[in-house]
Amino acid sequence: MQSFTYWSPTEVVFGKDTENQVAEYVKKYGGSRVLLVYGGGSVVKSGLLDRVAAALDAADIAHESFGGVQPNPSLEHAKEGIAQAIDFGADFIVGVGGGSAIDTAKGIAHGVANPDVDIWDFWTEKLPVEKSLPVGVILTISAAGSETSSSSVLTNKATGSKRGLDTPCNRPKFAIMNPELTYTLPPYQVACGVTDIMMHTLDRYFNPIDNELTDAIAEALLRTVIAKGAVAVKDTHDYDAMSEIMWAGSLSHNGLTGLGGTGDFAPHQLGHELSGMFDIAHGASLATVWGHWAQYVYKTKIARFVRYANNVWNITEGSDEEVALAGIQATVDYFKSIGMPTCFSEAEEIGVQSDEVLKDLAYRCTFEGERTIGGFQVLDGDDIYNIYKMVNV
Ligand code: NZQ
Ligand code: ZN
Repeated sequence: MQSFTYWSPTEVVFGKDTENQVAEYVKKYGGSRVLLVYGGGSVVKSGLLDRVAAALDAADIAHESFGGVQPNPSLEHAKEGIAQAIDFGADFIVGVGGGSAIDTAKGIAHGVANPDVDIWDFWTEKLPVEKSLPVGVILTISAAGSETSSSSVLTNKATGSKRGLDTPCNRPKFAIMNPELTYTLPPYQVACGVTDIMMHTLDRYFNPIDNELTDAIAEALLRTVIAKGAVAVKDTHDYDAMSEIMWAGSLSHNGLTGLGGTGDFAPHQLGHELSGMFDIAHGASLATVWGHWAQYVYKTKIARFVRYANNVWNITEGSDEEVALAGIQATVDYFKSIGMPTCFSEAEEIGVQSDEVLKDLAYRCTFEGERTIGGFQVLDGDDIYNIYKMVNV
């Protein structure tokens, strides 16, 4: 095991009707003027936003709403939220929704606490985030794990660059998680979420270091999400399936499933370029690239892919090579079975691309020649281009 620090301080409030406790938790963490950040309207339609506002009113907590966050949320929109929050005098930000609303809430919190900074400097690592406003979350989709993660992902629409910011300041104070709030999700969004949850663990699991406990936790999480995900896409009102997925979403991305390892996250980086350029949903972008990435790198440490096939898919018959490849195929088949694209031609936002586009994607993914990606196998610009070529079918 490598040395690590594990700090996952978010207070999780899980179960039916927990959103009714929002005022109590805002007060507990020092809030008195709240900006409620939400997306394109699902929480208005479901009545959740009104119920949250009423709960704050009843506790005499002043609040304003800032809606309109889009999937793959933009820096530009977050800046509008910062301006509104400053005008309102917000001292607490609550994200009501999924990763996009929560990540925007985090961006707004950083902007209000650092009014003289262009917050993109945080995302490009020109400046460290040293202070922020407290953020709380009411989660409505199990997917990104932002409700307990140290990350926030924004897209600079002017350049098409999608970047993640990792800082302890991104950890929310509380996360209210009522699985019933996810009942209204379209099956496609459930599938995107299931894929993203799997990928947060897979992107940690495939790393050069073996850690028995961490790896066993990762495998248990994957088996659970695979089984419950298949139920959830067919019946979004299955409380058992929706709750297992919801909790898995947090555990998959709060650091737990990679402790003592080095992580990889190459598929996430490959996927971010696709969302930045084509606005494809995050989970779908990951399903599109994963099988091709796996085919490209599995020989680096075939034993890890064999263990994955054995313990997650119960595939044991055959040579190491056959078992490893069967585990990859089972994953790709699973993504297809829940309606995810697994190559460019299956992704309606993308389609087969020219060689020029593939080169551009690869160049962007290296941050214009400034970095390699991945830890299981380190990938340079040529590797990245080769993988995009494999995806381009
Ligand atoms: O915008 P509304 O109207 O709310 O609709 C959303 C949106 O269209 C809808 N939705 C959410 N809850 C719903 C619902 N529809 C009906 N009923 C509900 N209960 O679902 C759509 C997707 O929402 P979004 O917030 O975009 O989904 P997700 O949670 O997957 O977040 C994706 C974003 O998070 C980033 C992704 O890159 C992407 O930008 N990520 C953030 C991470 C983090 N902060 O730790 C890590 C991840 O790897 C990821 O990169
Ligand atoms: Zn993700």
